[in-house]
Amino acid sequence: MDLSYVWSFIYCLVAAILVKWTIKHVNIIVKLPPGPWGLPLVGYLPWIRKNAYESFIDISKKYGGLFSVNLGSETVVVLNDWKAVKATLLDQPNVFSGRKDVHLARYMVKKKDIVFTDGNAWKIQRKLTVQGFIKIGLLNKSMENRILDLTQNVIEKLSLYNNKEAPMDSIFFSSILLTNWKLISVIPIDKNKLQKYEDALNLIFFGLRPDNPLILFEWLRFIPPNRSGYKAFKNACDYVNNSLREIIDSHLNNWKDGNAHDLIDRYIAEIKKREINGQKAPAPFTTDNLLGTLLDTFAAGVDTTNVTCLWAFLYLAFNQDIQRKAQKELDEVVGRFRMPSLDDFTKLPYTEAIIMEVHRKASLVPLAVPHRAIEDAKVFGYTIPKGTTCYPNIYAVHHDPTLWDDPQMFKPERFLDENNKVVWPPYLMPFSVGPRACLGQPLAQMELKLIISSLLHKFHFNFPVGQNLPTFDVDYSITLRPFPYSLLIKLREI
Ligand code: HEM
Repeated sequence: MDLSYVWSFIYCLVAAILVKWTIKHVNIIVKLPPGPWGLPLVGYLPWIRKNAYESFIDISKKYGGLFSVNLGSETVVVLNDWKAVKATLLDQPNVFSGRKDVHLARYMVKKKDIVFTDGNAWKIQRKLTVQGFIKIGLLNKSMENRILDLTQNVIEKLSLYNNKEAPMDSIFFSSILLTNWKLISVIPIDKNKLQKYEDALNLIFFGLRPDNPLILFEWLRFIPPNRSGYKAFKNACDYVNNSLREIIDSHLNNWKDGNAHDLIDRYIAEIKKREINGQKAPAPFTTDNLLGTLLDTFAAGVDTTNVTCLWAFLYLAFNQDIQRKAQKELDEVVGRFRMPSLDDFTKLPYTEAIIMEVHRKASLVPLAVPHRAIEDAKVFGYTIPKGTTCYPNIYAVHHDPTLWDDPQMFKPERFLDENNKVVWPPYLMPFSVGPRACLGQPLAQMELKLIISSLLHKFHFNFPVGQNLPTFDVDYSITLRPFPYSLLIKLREI
């Protein structure tokens, strides 16, 4: 047989496949939002700075608020201005409610949590968690009292530094963790583990930052697992998971129907309801999903509030006039003989506006958690194909000079109208927007209001004399945090 026919046939087949593949991909690229060209294999990565959200702002100057960019292993779409965020996350909420499948997250929560899953199981688990929080009193006075205990705890810590320098990064974390813990479990946390939890959560956040090479090139985890940080990430996840698993087991061992005092009992009750004749209930009604929910509450809910407090007192120390103005408002409304409460906030517009300005300036989660299009979507005439990862650039929206006057300045009054009433514009989006927006927003806002107002009421914050001032440089994990800094603490007179 003449083999040349066979070879010709194989060449033609390969060429046809290549042509079809090229046409399909050219077709996709042509319809995608425009963006910069990159190099083969690494795409545009060599031009991306350490803080990717800033590089995205540079790219948008040429390509506009909606652009695509190749980050090595995939082409992603960046929602870089409010119009693009609105046209996707708000106007097509379901389509953009997917999550990127990230190996590190899969290792951590096995696709059984809220943050990193999507589809029906995500919807049910999210609803179950929100309802669980409400039923155990998240939005009522009992929660406010718990947060006031937290605040009292922080006041006691800071009082030890009266007229001295306080290392601010050691002040808030453990108190917030203990408070959030009481929501999820009546069994107390082992206080000896607090520092290990903090270290583990920091490692997890650092691992999950969107520009981690282990996320951009997932195969890297096989090459230098020690040096790439993969092993440290795994150890941190194992530590937190094992500790939480022990707490779930204690709840299961002591579980009594109709006796639910915390989120874990509530979730177990939902699981038990669905276990018919000893048959296990389907996801998300499993203890693995409960573990995922706890891990989210822990990982997403403690450091975010902690770091927002760190930014708040850094900005307030830099802006002494703003600090004094808030203290005057607090003294007039609250007086000097009790602590501020949530009810006071109807009469504390300036203090509230400070917290909003902290959210804007800090833009704590600058690129949110990457979203994924769960079907082909049309945005501004372009096609974003099913499966595309989309980054909402919250930092860019919060620093857009067409939305904010002097966006680099710390100006709380931008949120007050002519009647001194607080106005929250839709494009102030620290918790993101749409169905994926942060589910801990009510808790975080209660905590921030009470911590920040109580501390401002009780203390004055300034920089220690004769030392270099801290900078606004950021330490970027999944959140933006200031580098450790100290403040001179002075108890205010009664
Ligand atoms: C100042 C504090 C906080 C900020 C700035 C913040 C911000 C965010 C942001 C930007 C997202 C991503 C939304 C998206 O992908 O579009 C998010 C998601 C989430 N946050 Fe928060 N968060 C805070 C506190 C909390 C707290 C206290 C909890 C829990 C008790 C929490 C639990 C979650 C969860 C579970 C998600 C995932 C929601 C989902 O995927 O459906 N967060 N948060």
